[in-house]
Amino acid sequence: MTRVDPARVARVREALVSSLGPDRLRDDAESLARFGHDESGLPDLPPDLVAIPRDALEVETIVRACAAHGVPFIAVGARTGKSGGSLAARGGVAISLEKLDQILSIHPGDLVAVVQPGVRTGDLQRAVEAHGLFYPPDPNSSDTCTLGGNVAENAGGPRALKYGVTRDYVLGLEWVLPGGDRVRVGRRTSKGVAGYDLVGLLVGSEGTLGIATEITLRLIPKPRAVKTALAAFRTVAAAAEAVTRVLTSGTLPRALELLDDVALAAVAGQGVAFPEGAGAVLITELDGSSDDALLAELVEVERIFSATGALETQIAQNESQREALWRVRRLVSPGLRVIKGRKLSEDVVVPRSRIPEAIARFKAAGDAHGLVVATYGHAGDGNLHANVLFDSDADRPKVQAVLDAMMAITLELGGTITGEHGVGLAKLQYLPLEHSKALLSLEKRLRVFFDPQVLANPGKVFSDG
Ligand code: LAC
Ligand code: ZN
Repeated sequence: MTRVDPARVARVREALVSSLGPDRLRDDAESLARFGHDESGLPDLPPDLVAIPRDALEVETIVRACAAHGVPFIAVGARTGKSGGSLAARGGVAISLEKLDQILSIHPGDLVAVVQPGVRTGDLQRAVEAHGLFYPPDPNSSDTCTLGGNVAENAGGPRALKYGVTRDYVLGLEWVLPGGDRVRVGRRTSKGVAGYDLVGLLVGSEGTLGIATEITLRLIPKPRAVKTALAAFRTVAAAAEAVTRVLTSGTLPRALELLDDVALAAVAGQGVAFPEGAGAVLITELDGSSDDALLAELVEVERIFSATGALETQIAQNESQREALWRVRRLVSPGLRVIKGRKLSEDVVVPRSRIPEAIARFKAAGDAHGLVVATYGHAGDGNLHANVLFDSDADRPKVQAVLDAMMAITLELGGTITGEHGVGLAKLQYLPLEHSKALLSLEKRLRVFFDPQVLANPGKVFSDG
């Protein structure tokens, strides 16, 4: 991919030094390297300059300077993305939203919070919970990722099963368009159908349609009671069957997470003991208005688990046991890195009934190339994190071949290539397998309508955009 001419970046730098002052800019090797790296497992792609605005007006100024000189710009949050969304594919200016980090207001009466994009998701969750309110989207990285990044990628998480994803909670946005104009889209009321649903379009636009400088979020009342359990099964097929049976039993857990045998091995000895012969685990969490009602529901779920062949179901008896179960889930991703040094994590979605077949075929695709595939994730949604484990860059061609096979299998099963991490750079070549030519053409025309020079995060989503 061609990188932008450094002379153009120098002109942007000069313009920004005079308009904002040098303290907003970084171009030392360490900063550029840091901003060239994320959690995607892709090779690093550093920007040429990092700009750190203090407010929306400064974001506008930076974007206008980039537009004036034809320099790409990339909005960057906490760099926890999994699809390369914040990597500087063509170089240019990384616009870090780290200083726009204020929770501007929480209105308990209106069930609304207004935040800047650099607020960490977990910090907002804790702040609203102090008011008896709840912000459900819970990406695994919620203690480090930011709401701006969540908006860009339309992030999900375990609780999406019952509560939906980021897009379901964004009411309104203050948004800097690729030319530098700032607009407000959406609303702050619960309902509203005036005009096109531009919020729906901008959430998940992966930095290609502009940058959020303020986010208005819908909140819900915090559930009064929560119960969590872990059930061990001999096989993934049995665990997947249990998922379907639970979801057709009249109970909707807020999470139903699956770990396959390799994922289990990755978290062995991390505080939760699995019974002999366990080849898969489900972690489920239910919430509601009273402990007693929930316990009754959980006993019913436990009955479904044992009728589907569960070896054992552990119900967390207190908050620390509950935390231990979720800790196991959170440790899967780092744990897999210990088995092999490197991994690429996919986030495909398949119809729930096809989960066993998908996992078996992903593993077989890995075997065919001598690579291990571990699968875990949001089974309740059919959203699977299939991870290809590998040792070094020398394995990348084999990894690519396994990914190609996994994407083909996913689409053949009626699924989608990405359920929560976005297309970014990681799935560029696969989007045309899922979207028709006519649809891709419409999407690209939309992108160019917003951004005629294609400067907002170029090289992402569309292989030729
Ligand atoms: C998770 C991230 C990878 O669910 O989406 O762990
Ligand atoms: Zn996930």
